[in-house]
Amino acid sequence: MTRIPQARDTTRTSAPCVGVFDSGVGGLTVLAALHRRLPHARLLYAADSAYAPYGERDAAYVLQRCRLLTRFLLRQGAQLVVVACNTATAMAMPELRSEWPQLPFVGIEPAIKPALALRAAGDGPVGVLATPGTLGSDRFRTLLARHAGDAAVLLQPCPGLAEAVETRGPHDPATLALLERFCAPLREARCTRVVLGCTHYPLLLDGIRAAFGDAVPTLLDPADAVAAQASRLAGELPQTHGTPTLCVWSNGEPARLQRIAAALGLPVGAVLALPTLEAAPAPLGAPAGSHGPAMSHHDA
Ligand code: DGL
Repeated sequence: MTRIPQARDTTRTSAPCVGVFDSGVGGLTVLAALHRRLPHARLLYAADSAYAPYGERDAAYVLQRCRLLTRFLLRQGAQLVVVACNTATAMAMPELRSEWPQLPFVGIEPAIKPALALRAAGDGPVGVLATPGTLGSDRFRTLLARHAGDAAVLLQPCPGLAEAVETRGPHDPATLALLERFCAPLREARCTRVVLGCTHYPLLLDGIRAAFGDAVPTLLDPADAVAAQASRLAGELPQTHGTPTLCVWSNGEPARLQRIAAALGLPVGAVLALPTLEAAPAPLGAPAGSHGPAMSHHDA
């Protein structure tokens, strides 16, 4: 008897549910890598664009946003959370892990270790482009101290760059002028390897290459390593059955997000409005305001 092929019943597919968040569109670069590795997963993405940039805020602000976004993704069914933001990973990861001890988290940090491991005689310095928040964090200092040894590493904070990508887009002349300003010291120092230490920066690859002219360094983006780790952990999750989906929420401009997602090959349909995320009430007996600082006007 010949079996007539049936349309695939996707609801029977084992589909882990992975939540991903970033201060905005940058984490789409990680989401794209995750989507390539886990095409059958339910992927949920929250873009916190109205509260970006995180990289120029203090740790209490960033931690508060991370808590709210984690809680939101859990309410949508996430079984694992990928913090697709170097700044948030640097500023909030230990607290998130201790507040949700049962929830697997995967973070992202600048690819210092592979950049230095690849070093060969005659190489120029390693450059690092990242937010001021990431470069000023204890976590980054520890990472550098552990791997840099006596290697020449040039740290280039890029204030305003993630925000320019958010508000103007990655191809805007003002964004590219800012990018050129931050790349110039690394070009002049003849860096042979440059770490992209913010998930917004892989969206600027063409601009970065143009800024280095005829001496384009090797550019390191850890998005795929993060996706590999997340997909390993997703394989250990309790099996759930559901339809593979890609669901995106944003409190920023949906059209820009859709354009960027399309350029990354992500089949994002409608972008849902990320609701205002309320802080959980303080536990009884806790001092007033113990859940972090008052939020900006965006909370109004
Ligand atoms: N995309 C983020 C990062 O990887 C944060 C950018 C920002 O909001 O400053 O650091």
